[in-house]
Amino acid sequence: RTDPGEFVGLLTEGDRDDLFRMGRRRRWPAGATLFSEGDRSTTVVLVLTGRAKVFSLTAQGGEVLLAIRGPGALLGEMSALDGAPRSASVSALEPLDAYVVGVSAFLDFLGTHPDAAVRIVRMIVSRLRDADRKRVEFGTYDALGRVALRLAELADRFGADAEHGVRITLPLTQDELAAWTGSSRESVTKALRTLRRHGIIETSRRSVSVIDLDRLRDRAK
Ligand code: CMP
Repeated sequence: RTDPGEFVGLLTEGDRDDLFRMGRRRRWPAGATLFSEGDRSTTVVLVLTGRAKVFSLTAQGGEVLLAIRGPGALLGEMSALDGAPRSASVSALEPLDAYVVGVSAFLDFLGTHPDAAVRIVRMIVSRLRDADRKRVEFGTYDALGRVALRLAELADRFGADAEHGVRITLPLTQDELAAWTGSSRESVTKALRTLRRHGIIETSRRSVSVIDLDRLRDRAK
């Protein structure tokens, strides 16, 4: 299954070479901020290795996790395309290796590479589908179901060859899970405790390990 956030890997080799040639290589350490919500946009980022989190701050200063993007992701395309300020903040969860391309070069590239432009449309459509589905889920599942669903989804995306019985460790805090599932910190703690008691996951302070993906999927139904 293709990661809905994948972009680079779906380009033809020629298109990818053209795009990388316009950029410069850049690394960020874990925890570094790539974009801040509300900033003016000057660049897009093509992730080669490492994962980043996309988040927005509430009026109360709480963090709402919008997405985790991994290798192959294109970041910063939204404000590059509509010229509005950055829609969200992005920070590195792990050391990140990437190409950075200026917005006007990127827009020129899309004008001359229609297949790549269509890829972006597909990626954004897939994100809209996810957002629609999440809205429906929020009205349907309780906190345990939502936590199980989100973890199963992340394990599917980031543990591609880790189907049965292989541990998949996700760098997630309980606060991030709470923000992402629209649940309170307390109900996330409770949901994780239930999943742990059933031997489905293990947790440490900053990560969740999925031990039994099949049973996690069952809990998410
Ligand atoms: P931009 O608005 O330029 O800056 C923030 C970036 O985060 C945005 O472009 C996208 O690349 C990314 N982003 C924002 N919202 C989402 C989302 N819901 N899912 C995935 N990526 C997102």
